[in-house]
Amino acid sequence: MASIIQSAHSPCLRQLPARHTTTASKLMLHASFHGCRRPCISISSASARLGGPVRAKAAVSAADSPVTSGLENGSGNSSSDKVLLEVRGLTAVIAETRQKILKGVNLIIREGEVHAIMRKNGSGKSTFAKVLVGHPDYEVTGGSVTFKGENLLEMEPENRSLAGLFMSFQSPVEIPGVSNDHFLRMAYNARRRALNLPELEPLEFFTYVSKKLELVNMDLDFLNRNVNEGFSGGEKKRNEILQLAVLGADLAILDEIDSGLDVDALKIVAQAVNKLLNPTNSVLMITHYRRLLEFIKPGFVHVMEDGRIIKTGDITIADILEKGGYQALASP
Ligand SMILES: Nc1ncnc2c1ncn2[C@@H]1O[C@H](COP(=O)(O)OP(=O)(O)O)[C@@H](O)[C@H]1O
Ligand SMILES: [Mg+2]
Repeated sequence: MASIIQSAHSPCLRQLPARHTTTASKLMLHASFHGCRRPCISISSASARLGGPVRAKAAVSAADSPVTSGLENGSGNSSSDKVLLEVRGLTAVIAETRQKILKGVNLIIREGEVHAIMRKNGSGKSTFAKVLVGHPDYEVTGGSVTFKGENLLEMEPENRSLAGLFMSFQSPVEIPGVSNDHFLRMAYNARRRALNLPELEPLEFFTYVSKKLELVNMDLDFLNRNVNEGFSGGEKKRNEILQLAVLGADLAILDEIDSGLDVDALKIVAQAVNKLLNPTNSVLMITHYRRLLEFIKPGFVHVMEDGRIIKTGDITIADILEKGGYQALASP
């Protein structure tokens, strides 16, 4: 959620009507607490996809994906071989305390691939995701991250999202006083402006967003409600996927998108994510539970421990974790 909150300096927030002035500053507070201080519209850079039909694709099946280890994931026959994200030796500390959290993360994600990172709480999964989107609580101390050939770490958070990086946060933020409809349209139009496309008028946007609502099985009423305010846990998660559907992304990082969902809600969320997958975009899921991986099938499962990816393989890794607990995967 915070990934689509704009900086106060951005044209988007300046577009808020005067009655939203107080809200805008609250929104900034939310943004700095939960997400990025100077964020960030999370929208795909693939202009061809904007407004166009979403190409459905079956998620990568485990059988299709070779077991790989270490940095090189192998080609993965569902992927295009084109590297989307390349992380090498990434280290990061908590900016305030200098506590080391990431201790050398290596990861390659190619176009069209679905990846999952698993492991128990406190291993650094969310930190890794937040460092990728440029969260100000963390400072990168070493390593490199390339996204679509560009040095991601040199990019401002908002430019990371404009480049096609989306993150749904583990705890989506509420934004009192800003309707979902207004928020999504503001974000979507910012993206269109960046792509030199004409902005959508409210009615045009309504037509566009209505189809996306169907995708996540959300009622039209959700457009009029304030962003995430009073939403149940499941509704918040669906709202995150709605944002992803509206904005699009080349790489969507979904942090515990399954938490707090019953199986029916999980199916809806997973189906929506699967429909958004196409041969050129990718998903990085963070989860504790194998259950999610039954619905969104990853080609690659990584185990993170103490700020590093200690194992990479296919879905059988998740089976081992499920059956034997995390002890079953001792560090090599
Ligand atoms: N902003 C922060 N301030 C203080 N501690 C943090 C912060 N972010 C992460 N941590 C600590 O870093 C460790 C890793 O956290 P996190 O990345 O959230 O793990 P995971 O998502 O794997 O559960 C935890 O011990 C957590 O308390
Ligand atoms: Mg976490």
